[in-house]
Amino acid sequence: MRTITLGNSGLPVPVIAVGCMRINRLDKPAAAAFVKNAVDLGAIFFDHADVYGDGLCEAIFAEAIAMNSSIRQKILLQSKCGIRPGIAFDFSKKHILEAVEGSLKRLKTDYLDVLLLHRPDALVEPEEVAEAFSALHSAGKVRNFGVSNQNPTQIRLLKKYVPQPLVANQLQLSITNANMITQGFHVNMADDGAVNRDGSILDFCRLHDITIQPWSPFQYGFFEGVFLGSDKFPKLNAKIHEIAVQYHVSDTTIAMAWLLRHPAKMQPVTGTMNVEHLRDCVKAADINLTREEWYAIYLAAGNILP
Ligand SMILES: NC(=O)c1ccc[n+]([C@@H]2O[C@H](COP(=O)([O-])OP(=O)(O)OC[C@H]3O[C@@H](n4cnc5c(N)ncnc54)[C@H](OP(=O)(O)O)[C@@H]3O)[C@@H](O)[C@H]2O)c1
Repeated sequence: MRTITLGNSGLPVPVIAVGCMRINRLDKPAAAAFVKNAVDLGAIFFDHADVYGDGLCEAIFAEAIAMNSSIRQKILLQSKCGIRPGIAFDFSKKHILEAVEGSLKRLKTDYLDVLLLHRPDALVEPEEVAEAFSALHSAGKVRNFGVSNQNPTQIRLLKKYVPQPLVANQLQLSITNANMITQGFHVNMADDGAVNRDGSILDFCRLHDITIQPWSPFQYGFFEGVFLGSDKFPKLNAKIHEIAVQYHVSDTTIAMAWLLRHPAKMQPVTGTMNVEHLRDCVKAADINLTREEWYAIYLAAGNILP
């Protein structure tokens, strides 16, 4: 699969990442078949979090891929920490270190290629994050660091103390959840689109070489459903299908190609556990939508230009 460089890490990564949040829906044979097919497709970058399935997703993945040192060399593993069910969020040094130990154990590996802080912690002490990251980096347990769901000021606060580059920011983004794009059209206007909800995170990440990893690339709302095939989005589905027919690909491929067409060089994180859907997502890596097609899809979703 086509690769991009993750942030300024120098690490080449497949342009599509495989999210494993839903892998606990599969039985053992299906999980093994899914990860094998993903690797065969070149989809070797797997996104995890300690909280997915309460840890089960990481363990199921390790078993499904029959983790050993030779397989480990062929794949890239990202996990996240900082959410503590029953409490809320925890970016303390103690928690970060313990969470990573847990992920390494469940994933049956000695190191993570990337560790992300999952959701902002209001009680963050960036000095502690820095200590945790440096300890994990110098022990060889984590090679690269990033964040998720963070705005520019939160990232700046971390960067004041954290010596390692922050290479990724995982953020919700789909054609139907495109606020970070929409606000760029409505600068200084009195309409709803002008509300800057994220501090211009899209441009900030581009300016600072932070790769945006769009999560839930096919969902509308907050996990409310998939917009493809939904009768809530008739115009969008018609436009996507019209373009898909022209390219001789599926609607899934075109929806993914829309994210990849953005020049920010994003790395969308899929959530499908269906090999055909994943294959269609991977095909998007070879499609470069025209400017006209990109805008037509954006507008068909009901997004309004000034
Ligand atoms: N950082 C964060 O805060 C955060 C939050 C949420 C998720 N994530 C990460 O992002 C990943 C993706 O999230 P997500 O699962 O919500 O994303 P998604 O790819 O938008 O949604 C996946 C779901 O859509 C379904 N789907 C239906 N039709 C589909 C089609 N044509 N193509 C693809 N999928 C289709 C899939 O079912 P099938 O399996 O049947 O295809 C699956 O249940 C997660 O696995 C996780 O790694 C991160």
